[in-house]
Amino acid sequence: MDTTTTLIDNGILKQHLIDPEICIRCNTCEATCPVGAITHDDNNYVVRADVCNGCMACIAPCPTGSIDNWRSVPVARAYSVEEQLGWEALPAELPPEQWGTADSAHSGSAATAVQAAPAPVPAEPGTQTFRSAQYGATVPPWSAAHPYTNLFGPAKPTTATVVGNFNCTEAGFDSQTHHVVLDFGSMPFPVLEGQSIGIIPPGTDALGKAHHARQYSVASPRNGERPGYNNLALTVKRVTQDYDGHPVRGIASNYVCDLKVGDQVQVIGPFGSSFLMPNHPRSHIVMICTGTGSAPMRAMTEWRRRLRSSGKFEGGKLMLFFGARTQQELPYFGPLQSLPKDFIDINLAFSRTPGQPKRYVQDLMRERAADLLALLRDGSSHFYVCGLKGMEEGVVMALRDIAQDAGLDWETLGAALKREGRLHLETY
Ligand code: A2P
Repeated sequence: MDTTTTLIDNGILKQHLIDPEICIRCNTCEATCPVGAITHDDNNYVVRADVCNGCMACIAPCPTGSIDNWRSVPVARAYSVEEQLGWEALPAELPPEQWGTADSAHSGSAATAVQAAPAPVPAEPGTQTFRSAQYGATVPPWSAAHPYTNLFGPAKPTTATVVGNFNCTEAGFDSQTHHVVLDFGSMPFPVLEGQSIGIIPPGTDALGKAHHARQYSVASPRNGERPGYNNLALTVKRVTQDYDGHPVRGIASNYVCDLKVGDQVQVIGPFGSSFLMPNHPRSHIVMICTGTGSAPMRAMTEWRRRLRSSGKFEGGKLMLFFGARTQQELPYFGPLQSLPKDFIDINLAFSRTPGQPKRYVQDLMRERAADLLALLRDGSSHFYVCGLKGMEEGVVMALRDIAQDAGLDWETLGAALKREGRLHLETY
């Protein structure tokens, strides 16, 4: 799609912007954008006016709707990336009478950016890189329950009380993950398996600004961690290193992992309307995760377990591929062992077990190709991927290879999985 024809009309650009007051910095838009138009710094997520082609691929996946903002500006006055990165709030729409004036409401330092946008260069046949994100659904399975979203925004968070907090990995290892239970008292806070919430750490950052909310997937099913109470659970990894292994103290994760029973936290959400579980009889769920990506998988598994124990389970397979550094660092290792084998097919991949070869979830998927192929052929199968960004490509490639090795056309199958809300990707 050509930017200049779709977003620019008569010298006026319909500029795509992200509302910094509502954005929860979850990276979904940047991961989804097929043309690399979205970037971020520690402060904001922003859209490059010269790269965005208005394809709208990022709109549905955004959990808050902050992505869906547009301003009409003369092309020569498009808001630059630098301007957007400094915003605390979206600028007001520029009135048309100001479009032509020299001293516009903003600096217009991207004056030439849009006009200078290079035409897309078609990739040479056979050289296209595999882009896993293009197969991720933006719609829920047809039988998903109706989710409530954005009941509480950053300007009006609600308060929850900590009623439980424990380390759900083995003590004494580098990577520590906590299971945290929050109670909302009499405040309605309905969530479905696969949805997330935001927690606002108290205090301010180095610039004296209030911290942004951090997004966490809900780890408990729709009727709560403890049925009959208005509560939910989260799975939070204590961040002590950055991506390069340098020591760093994650503001929000350490705040949450250190919470004590009785503490109160500021919560926003719920978020998410597509990463939801199917509810129709004999629907299959394949769950592929690493680390805290297990939260939505725990939620879906637990909901099915409760249905089963109350005699309401209507069939359907559950298959789990779960990766961690070691068994000791795998969240919920103990509880997973007590689930019946005829209820869930569990496959664990450990990458740093001393004396053992490194194994990733995608390696196990390839070993289970025959079973995954049967599920790929079945229109009632739903695939969920959550965890490290790095695994997404490997996992979707494994699905592709399993399909192709059996003679299935992956492009047709991948498009159906996306269109029917049957392949969900949530990586960070
Ligand atoms: P690794 O030992 O290579 O880091 P973490 O504990 O950092 O949350 O990671 C969870 C698991 O995901 C670890 O076993 C980690 O292995 C693994 N992992 C890292 N990169 C990838 C990848 N590209 N694909 C699949 N798994 C990965």
